[in-house]
Amino acid sequence: MKYKVGVCQFEPKLFDLEYNLKRMEDLLEPINADLIVLPELAASGYVFTNIDEVKKISESAEDGATADLFKKLASGKNTSYVVGFAEKDGNDLYNSSMLVNPDGDIHVYRKTHLFFEEKKWFTPGNTGFKVFNAKDGIKVGLMVCFDWIFPESARSLTLNGAQIIAHSTNLVLPWCQQAMITRSLENRIFSITSNRTGTERNGEVELTFTGMSQIVNTKGEILKRMNTTEEAVYITEIDPEKANDKMITELNDAIGDRRPEYYNL
Ligand code: ACM
Repeated sequence: MKYKVGVCQFEPKLFDLEYNLKRMEDLLEPINADLIVLPELAASGYVFTNIDEVKKISESAEDGATADLFKKLASGKNTSYVVGFAEKDGNDLYNSSMLVNPDGDIHVYRKTHLFFEEKKWFTPGNTGFKVFNAKDGIKVGLMVCFDWIFPESARSLTLNGAQIIAHSTNLVLPWCQQAMITRSLENRIFSITSNRTGTERNGEVELTFTGMSQIVNTKGEILKRMNTTEEAVYITEIDPEKANDKMITELNDAIGDRRPEYYNL
């Protein structure tokens, strides 16, 4: 089966929802694909310094401005999208990503492993590592940024049947892109890591994001990788059914040969 997947990298402007949504729309409108992954907190920016800033810019997953844009794009372009957003649910704030399908369905994942000061304003995610149907019934598992450093995240998505991991990120540490090669290889799964680029300042705090968004196949081969600064959408064609084959040699099954009785999880 041929399935066109893509990764979008750009530089959001902190607190500028209107600019960020327009920038994503302009990048995505010319692109035809089946599934495209966008960065973490793509519409809000990342460098918050207090909870009121997050409250002001966070959105409902059902009818916020980010959901509205991606519902419009998904039906107009017949594409599934995964995009990170600051989610408001009652009094709780989550660092979430949503899968938006052409039929208007929205599925939400709330980041399980919060990074650094995120712990001061976001509630740890309570959705777990669920797998959802994207366009054409392809099984997509969502994780967000720092979830990568816990191999249990990608392994749980794999055990739950994911063929593709949609990984929205705002990476500042230097290791994730290389580590995701191993996550793909050890789980025999495709991974799409979308990172942002640029330097963001808020008062005394300044962070530089590492770009290098990438698409990795089930053998840990990099199919596409961007540089550290470009703003673009890269597309490649994959066969998601390859992720159903967990054999490494004819006698070694990456999932079936596990010995969980000896693991201390
Ligand atoms: C991160 O989890 N945004 C590094």
